[in-house]
Amino acid sequence: MDKIIIEGQNSLSGSVPISGAKNAVLPIMAAALMGKGRATITRVPDLRDTRTMIRLMEIIGAVCEYENGTLTVDGSIVDNPEAPYELVKTMRASFYVLGPLLARFGEVRVSLPGGCAWGPRPVDFHLKGLEKLGAKITLENGYIIARSKRLQGSEIQFEFPSVGATGNIVMAAATAAGTTIIRNAAREPEIVQLCDYLNQMGSNISGQGTTTLIIKGVESLESADIAVIPDRIETGTFLTAGALLGEITLKDVYPHHLDSVLMKLKEAGCTIRTTADTITISPADSIQAVDITTAVYPGFPTDLQAQWIALMTLARGSSMVTDTVYHDRFSHIPELNRLGANIRVDQNTAFVRGVKNLVGAPVMSTDIRASASLIIGGLIAKGTTEVNRVYHIDRGYEQIEDKFSALGAKIWRESA
Ligand code: EPZ
Repeated sequence: MDKIIIEGQNSLSGSVPISGAKNAVLPIMAAALMGKGRATITRVPDLRDTRTMIRLMEIIGAVCEYENGTLTVDGSIVDNPEAPYELVKTMRASFYVLGPLLARFGEVRVSLPGGCAWGPRPVDFHLKGLEKLGAKITLENGYIIARSKRLQGSEIQFEFPSVGATGNIVMAAATAAGTTIIRNAAREPEIVQLCDYLNQMGSNISGQGTTTLIIKGVESLESADIAVIPDRIETGTFLTAGALLGEITLKDVYPHHLDSVLMKLKEAGCTIRTTADTITISPADSIQAVDITTAVYPGFPTDLQAQWIALMTLARGSSMVTDTVYHDRFSHIPELNRLGANIRVDQNTAFVRGVKNLVGAPVMSTDIRASASLIIGGLIAKGTTEVNRVYHIDRGYEQIEDKFSALGAKIWRESA
């Protein structure tokens, strides 16, 4: 297994391009299965997760070609509505094919996703939503079997504005008979782009970006092309590194997707300058401790919680970081403490007491964003840090060590 080695405390400078958003392209790829022609998707990041999704699409029968960030999907001969366990267990987002395949075939088999590094992640909102649309759902040998002659529009109220469940139900409802209203829907930019993409394919969806989506079912959808929005979580990851290590500029970004994060970085003492598609961060003389509570969009994203904690390890004072989306997403804490951080967790809150410096050590990745926080920890620590099991980080970051090297970091990959 590969590992990433970092010689810490090298300042950063310069600019780096941000890739297309993993969490936007995965549902867009699933939606492409609803078109019977050829779709061209650009700004597709080269990640383990996007490659897993391509493999899944090919198992289902789509013909995919991926080169230099451009993915073409030919859905004309899709003929195998099934997502096998060996793929779904590696990537929960495989579950996104449930809605599209049910809509297109009237029957679909999708393996239940397992838990993940930080606990179980149920899919009950997805299944209840599909049942409201008239699907018959059974569980056989760890597989969800969903059947429906033709889905019927309905009113659906989510207990929680689940990103994945909103995506799945929107795709299923796009060609249902009648109108579907989803209340307490997710407002994340990635779901907004999914709805816009479905409209480009001929859907009739309105309300995206609000908590109420109205989907007027249409007979069928046509394939369409799209450029994926920038990855706001990759952007935020680099910003937290720049906050400590030097002035850097992130290019090809949408600053307004990070309003809550930019506000907190300014509170911590950083200077932020933005243009239409760049963000420049200049570090504070000394980072102030700032509390955060994660929330669904437009709140502070849970996917930046671990990176924020890495930043707070060197802040002046103590901070509290509470995650309201996942109550047990703290597997990075023991590893950051191995670097000399002073953090304790109680329920779904981490209490971070700022220390003078971190000291490099071997640490273990456990999930995509925990790995990112360990990379940041290594960049700011004295001496050498070795981040093991970096296949986790490769799931969600495109060439992260190359991008940080280009900014002046001493960071490289070794095959173990
Ligand atoms: C998406 O996961 C993202 N993944 C996650 O990013 C992100 O952390 C999460 O949204 C929250 O923003 C992708 O978009 C591929 P949810 P998703 O359904 O859709 C509970 C990353 O690092 N829930 O919004 O699975 C769930 O347990 C990944 O890029 C149910 O109880 O998240 C959680 O507590 C990690 N039942 C909360 O809702 C359900 O049926 C939010 O989950 C569904 C979810």
